[in-house]
Order: sequence, then structure tokens, then C-alpha cells
Amino acid sequence: MKQILPIVLGAMVLLAVVMVSSVSAAEDRPSGISTQLQGPETFDSIADLNDRAIAMFVEAGKVLSHPRCVNCHPADRTPLQGEDGAAHQPPVVRGRGGIGVVGMRCRTCHLAENFDPGRVPGAPHWLLAPDSMAWEHLTLGEICDQIKDPDRNGGRTLEDIVEHVSEDALVAWGWSPGAGRQPAPGSQAIFAALIRGWVDLGAACP
Ligand code: HEC
Ligand code: HEC
Repeated sequence: MKQILPIVLGAMVLLAVVMVSSVSAAEDRPSGISTQLQGPETFDSIADLNDRAIAMFVEAGKVLSHPRCVNCHPADRTPLQGEDGAAHQPPVVRGRGGIGVVGMRCRTCHLAENFDPGRVPGAPHWLLAPDSMAWEHLTLGEICDQIKDPDRNGGRTLEDIVEHVSEDALVAWGWSPGAGRQPAPGSQAIFAALIRGWVDLGAACP
């Protein structure tokens, strides 16, 4: 016990330092990330249906381009973290099927719920989006094309996309991301209603 105590104390001090430094990092966020989201009815006055669909998709784009989503839809095979898309600490890679590699599986650290004391985000079936669904560095028009393309969207129909954004646990996590993280703008219900409206009007891309 005498030998173990200093090690335990040392580990606690280290943890405290890590937590304090990550809290201060969370405070200095870039401005300009939307927190508001307008519902589909906002665009009722746009007479041209394609233009109205595009306006809805652009509004939904405030969510699609938000760090809560892009951090898990990165261009490289490693997730990003925080409000400015910093490299994930510790370094991890996607591995086969997006679940990480042996010894560094996502779900070793990411549980089914957020673990706020350690600032570790969590949701059921936590894993990285595949290369074909990488949104980092894409324009909103390119994200739109990707989401509609069954060769790149996991073989989904537009109805499947509506269902995914309405019900998927990783999408839902975007609005309850745990301590120190900004939720995606608006609510999942408003976001899903925008995607529903966009699909119903023919799903034109910006
Ligand atoms: C923890 C990682 C993670 C987070 C966070 C996450 N996603 Fe995903 N997303 C995935 C994975 C993995 C898939 C692929 C799932 C599959 O094909 O079954 C996916 C697929 C999708 C798809 C369907 C396929 C396509 O064409 O892109 C959409 C739409 C989507 N995500 C939207 C979002 C939105 C919106 C957010 C933020 C509110 C979000 N995701 C946050 C991991 C994540
Ligand atoms: C050794 C533990 C560990 C492993 C393994 C791990 N993560 Fe993480 N991850 C963390 C911690 C801790 C954080 C929170 C960092 C912070 O914000 O302070 C985090 C944050 C994230 C975030 C950022 C969420 C946000 O929007 O800020 C994403 C996305 C993520 N991890 C995805 C993954 C994926 C996908 C895998 C597997 C390929 C993975 N992680 C493997 C510990 C881990």
C-alpha cells in the first residue's frame, strides 16, 4: 500500500492537469458557428421548388458542417475533436469497419453514454464514418452529392437518409455531446424536418 499510494496520487494529479487544460482549450472557440436552425416552413415563400429545396439543404448544412458531425466524418482515417477539428488525442485510426484497431478500439474509451468526468463522449455503436462519407474539406454542394449517391452513402435511398438523420444514435449525440462541447444547432427534430422537406421537394443540391 505504501508504494502504491504515491503512484495513485501522481495519477490523480496528472488527470487533474489534463482536465484543467482541456477545459481551458474548450473555452477559446472560434466564433461564427451557428447555434440557431430555422424549420422548413421558413422557406414556404420561395415559389420555385428546387430553390426551396436548396434553401432547406443550406439551412441543414449548418448541422452537416458542424464540428459535432465533421469530427466523425473526417477526410483522413483518424477522427477530429473539439470545436476547431484538432487531431484526436491519443492518435487513433479507423481500422477495418471504423471501429479502431486492436488495442485502440473506439469502444474501449467511448461507451454508450458520455462520460463527463473524463470528457469522453459516448453513444451506442461509436465508430468512424467510412472514407466515402468524408465531409471535411467538402463544399455543401459536394456533401449533398455524396449523401444522395448510393455508391458512397452505404447504399441508402433518400428515405433511408431521412430515417438515418431522424433516428441514428450517433446523429442524436450531436445534440447531447456532453460536458465542454457545443451541441449542433437547433434540434435533431428541426434538422430531420429540413431533410424531410428537402427530399419531398426533389432533393436538389446547392
Ligand atoms: C461517432 C461518429 C459519428 C458522429 C459523431 C456522426 N456520424 Fe454520421 N456516420 C457515422 C458512421 C460510422 C456512418 C456510417 C454508418 C453506416 O453506413 O451504417 C455515418 C453515416 C451518416 C449518414 C449517412 C450516410 C452518408 O451519406 O453520409 C449521415 C446522413 C450522417 N452520418 C449524418 C451525421 C450528422 C448530421 C451528424 C452530426 C449531427 C453525424 N452524422 C455525426 C459516424 C458518425
Ligand atoms: C484511448 C481512448 C480513446 C480511443 C481508443 C478513442 N478515443 Fe475518441 N476520444 C477520446 C477522448 C478522451 C476524447 C475527448 C477529447 C476532448 O474533447 O477533450 C475523444 C474524442 C473523440 C471525438 C471528438 C468529439 C467532438 O466532437 O469533440 C471523436 C469524433 C472521437 N473521439 C472518435 C473516436 C473514434 C471514431 C475512435 C476509434 C477509431 C476513437 N475516438 C478512439 C478517447 C479515445
